[in-house]
Amino acid sequence: MKLSKKLVILGAQWGDEGKGKIVDLLSADYEVVVRYQGGSNAGHTVMVNGQKFILHLLPTGILHTHTVGVIAQGMVVDLELLVEEIKDIESKGISVKDRLLISERAHLVLPYHKTLDALLEKKGKIGTTLRGIGPAYMLKHARKGIRVCDLWDKDRFYSLVKDNLELVEELCKKVYCESFEMKAEEVVEKTLENFEYIKHCVADASNYLLNTKKSILFEGAQGVLLDVDIGTYPYVTSSNSSALGLSAGTGLPPKFFSDAEFLGVSKAYATRVGEGPFPTELKDETGQLLRERGGEYGATTGRPRRCGWLDLVALRHAVNLNGLDGIVLTKLDVLDSFEEIKVCVAYKIEDKVVDTFPASVSLLEKAQPIYKSFEGWRKDTHGATSPEDLPEQALSYLRFIQEFTGVPVVMLSTSPERDKYIWLSYEERVGSSNIG
Ligand code: GDP
Ligand code: IMO
Ligand code: MG
Repeated sequence: MKLSKKLVILGAQWGDEGKGKIVDLLSADYEVVVRYQGGSNAGHTVMVNGQKFILHLLPTGILHTHTVGVIAQGMVVDLELLVEEIKDIESKGISVKDRLLISERAHLVLPYHKTLDALLEKKGKIGTTLRGIGPAYMLKHARKGIRVCDLWDKDRFYSLVKDNLELVEELCKKVYCESFEMKAEEVVEKTLENFEYIKHCVADASNYLLNTKKSILFEGAQGVLLDVDIGTYPYVTSSNSSALGLSAGTGLPPKFFSDAEFLGVSKAYATRVGEGPFPTELKDETGQLLRERGGEYGATTGRPRRCGWLDLVALRHAVNLNGLDGIVLTKLDVLDSFEEIKVCVAYKIEDKVVDTFPASVSLLEKAQPIYKSFEGWRKDTHGATSPEDLPEQALSYLRFIQEFTGVPVVMLSTSPERDKYIWLSYEERVGSSNIG
C-alpha cells in the first residue's frame, strides 16, 4: 500500500485508539516523525516481539532508528519526564538524543502546573491525567507561559518562574483558599539540570519541517472528541487534538498539508477515560467484558477505561471535521467472542431522533443511542494478517462502518504486536471483493 509523503494519523474517538501501534508500524516508511500537541497526558503503547514500550512525550516513530523525531511548538513539555523517557528508551538499546529536535517555541510544563491541575480537579472534575497539561496551556494563552527558548537565559528564566509562582500562589490562596509554597530556585535548578541533557536537540523545528525534503508522519495525540474546540467540551483536553491543531502545532502553513493523507484510528468499539458524556457507554457485564478482553486500563494513569459500543455518529463527526481519507480500525479481535455486536447510528434526544453530533454537553448527556445490531463472528481473528482470515460477519461489520462514515476502512489491527495487521486492498475497500 503506497501512502502519501506526508501522512497525518489522528485518534478518531476519545484517545487510546491504538495510535501508538499504528504510528509505529507506518513510521517504518517515514523519515521524520512529529508530535505537535498535547504532552505527557498521552500514552502510546507499542509491542515489538513481546517487548512493551509506552511513549508519552516522544513521537512513537522514534522507535525506528532511521527516523528524525520532532517535538513541535504546539506541545507542552515536561522536561523531567522527557529526560526520563529518553533514558528509558536508550536503556533498551535505541538511540534517541542524536536524532531528536525540540522546538524552541514549545511551552514547558513545570511542577506548579501540576499543582494547579490537581486544584482545578478538586473544584470541578474533568478526570484529567494530572500532568499539568490544562494549566500549561492556560498560562500559554494568558501570555504567562515559559518556552524552551527561555531556558537559554538563566536570569530571564528565573524571573519568569518567579512571576508564575506569584500568580499561582495568589490563585491558590486568594481564589481557592488553599496553601501553596514552591521555591523558584528549586524549580529553576532542576529544570536547567534537565535542559542540560537535551539542549543540543533544541532547534527551529518549523523551519526544519518546512525545508526538509524528507517524508513526514504527523502523530496526533488524544483524539478528535477530546479536541478543545470540536470535542465534548468542557470534558476535553486543552489542545486541538483534531486536524485543526496541525498548522498551529507545527508552525507550518495550512497549505503545507494540502497534499497530505489523513487517517483516523478508531477501535472496533469505544472507550473513554475520565469524566464526560459517552452515549454508548455500557455499565453492565458487556462493558466489563470489553474492558477485560481489551485490556482497557490507561497507559498513562492505569485508570480503568469506560467501555461501550462503537458510536458511528461520533465517528462520522470525526471523519467529516478532519477530512479523513480513511479509517484504521483497531482491536477487532476484542469482539471475537461476542454473540451480538452493536453500533450506534443515531441518538434519541428529548423525543427527537438526531444523527449528528451535538455541541452541547447537556444534550449529549441525554442522548440515548439507537443501535443497529450485528451477529458476532465467534471466530478467532487475534493476530490475523490476511483478509482471507476475516469471517463474513466481520466483513459485514466493516462494510457497514465504511458505508455509514463515507470513507474506507483501509487497515485493521488484530493484536498489540507490531506485525499483526491487515491492509484492505482497493477492491476490498470499494466492495467488489471480500467486503462487497
Ligand atoms: P494510543 O494512546 O492510541 O496509542 O493507545 P494506547 O496505547 O493508550 O491503548 C491501546 C491499547 O490497545 C494498547 O494496550 C495496545 O497495545 C493495544 N492494542 C493496539 N492495537 C490492538 C489490537 O489490534 N488488538 C488488541 N487486542 N490490542 C491492541
Ligand atoms: P492518548 O494520546 C485518553 C483525557 C483525560 C481527561 C481529559 C483531560 O494516549 O490517546 P488532560 O490531562 O489532557 O487535561 O485530561 O482528556 N485524556 C486522554 N484520554 N488518551 C489520551 O491520550 C488522553 N489524554 C488526555 O483522561 O478526560
Ligand atoms: Mg493512550
